[in-house]
Amino acid sequence: QKRTFVPAVVVGTGYGSAVTALRLGEAGITTTMLELGQLWNKPGKDGKIFCSTLNPDSRSMWFSRRTKAPLDTFLWLDVVNRDIGTPYAGVLDRIDFPNMGVYVGRGVGGGSLVNGGMAPTPKRAYFEKMLPRVDADQMYRRYFPLANKMLGVNTIDPRYLEQTPVYRYARVSRRHAHQAGFKTTVIPNVYDFRYLQREERNQVPRSALAGEVIYGNNHGKQSLDKTYLADAVGTGKVTIQTLTRVTAIRQDKTGYVLTLEKIDASGNVLRRSELGCEHLFLGAGSVGTTELLLRARETDALPNLSAAIGTGWGSNGNVMTSRANHLWDPTGFLQSTIPTLAIDNWNDPIHPAFAEIAPLPIGIETWASLYLAITASPERGRFSYNASTDRAELHWGATQSNPSIATARALFDRINRAIGTTYRHDLFGGNREFAADFCYHPLGGCVLGKATDDYGRVRGYRNLYVTDGSLIPGSIGVNPFVTITALAERNIARVLATDLRT
Ligand code: FDA
Repeated sequence: QKRTFVPAVVVGTGYGSAVTALRLGEAGITTTMLELGQLWNKPGKDGKIFCSTLNPDSRSMWFSRRTKAPLDTFLWLDVVNRDIGTPYAGVLDRIDFPNMGVYVGRGVGGGSLVNGGMAPTPKRAYFEKMLPRVDADQMYRRYFPLANKMLGVNTIDPRYLEQTPVYRYARVSRRHAHQAGFKTTVIPNVYDFRYLQREERNQVPRSALAGEVIYGNNHGKQSLDKTYLADAVGTGKVTIQTLTRVTAIRQDKTGYVLTLEKIDASGNVLRRSELGCEHLFLGAGSVGTTELLLRARETDALPNLSAAIGTGWGSNGNVMTSRANHLWDPTGFLQSTIPTLAIDNWNDPIHPAFAEIAPLPIGIETWASLYLAITASPERGRFSYNASTDRAELHWGATQSNPSIATARALFDRINRAIGTTYRHDLFGGNREFAADFCYHPLGGCVLGKATDDYGRVRGYRNLYVTDGSLIPGSIGVNPFVTITALAERNIARVLATDLRT
């Protein structure tokens, strides 16, 4: 079999990968990026690239016949999820493990295509606690500002926030939080808030105001394909191969050899091939990168990989809940899908929580306040390799979500008591008040300083690196992509200066 060789390969096109590829390209290093999903640049029959949450079609989900939205039902009715026809290489994937469903983006840009764009920088004290061996001074002086600038982070005009009907839901939840004695904070975002204002004035096509978010935004969002990845390709040194799954990694005397599977958008395997490289950077996300390394260790392809691979996984303490407001507290029928406020109770010594005030953009008045809380759960899961399926399996016990739920309950019980409201029971299935059996923020599996050295160099091997969310030990206290980006910037700067000196 004829094998191609490139100096550097980056697996995945999410945050860690995009940063790494740009900096490699700028350094003049020919780099190939390999991405499982597609390049989202071709409009469908409706003239749009992505479909909305209100009218999902096959573009919404990664090879599924039905959508798998985080809300199960509305008013206990099975009206949220829809049949979407023939399985297709859609943009949102939900990887279901026992007791935990992990949402991830698929396509050039990874999670940036499907996420809510919230871009908070973590609290310094918590960052230092979670990543004690990383120089926090340098991160907060240099790499967090760099990540914010490169990602196009902006904040909402406070006057607009106070008067627009599309953030009534956020103001109502903020008022309730304040009445219960909690603090709130404005969350920066990579969605262009000036664009949002023009949407409201009907000057531009609507996206955040058209129910678009978890299945992609057609406008307004500075996803990675518009920022880091555009710049990376612009160096002339970086190319991206799409619909390409890395299935295995091994070593030979020339460096690393990757086994690739090229698929079409219907999932047919078109061909298998091999690609060789000298430097290999893994940015396939917490689940993706961990699976590749576990498989390599357990099949003896890379037998010296450390026992720490597959450990230290967490959901960032994600838990979703919703409150039923009084009739005099409507939340608005037209809601921006882009969240902009959070309840910040992180300094609580017993129940620290950072709860994003989420929209419920279904086009009707719901009187619901929805939240995605991030909690400081100490629980961690671990992955094992199942040889019969050739997949990594996450071990996350049913009770491991309980600390997150207890924290969320402490916060929202207090709000309900202050306002005289109750929880909604109709949204998450089984009359549940809290849903902590899925997450948007998978973190860990190849933790910095454990599975790798302090700069993401994989222990046991030279020229092999992890660049993504799997480096972060399960929890970071806020939505994670700014941290993933800043850490990747820091690590690649060191690696370029020492390992790749040309
Ligand atoms: P990321 O997951 O982004 O990218 C990995 C890429 O690798 C994917 O494109 C994948 O297809 C590819 N890949 C995987 N396996 C592969 C293989 N074997 N071969 C080739 N390619 C492979 N965060 C935040 O900070 N603010 C927010 O508002 C939100 N909101 C949010 C909403 C939703 C719905 C989701 C799903 C997630 C969020 N997040 C978020 C989380 C955020 O998007 C996430 O933390 C980052 O995208 C993780 O970045 P990584 O670089 O780790 O990988």
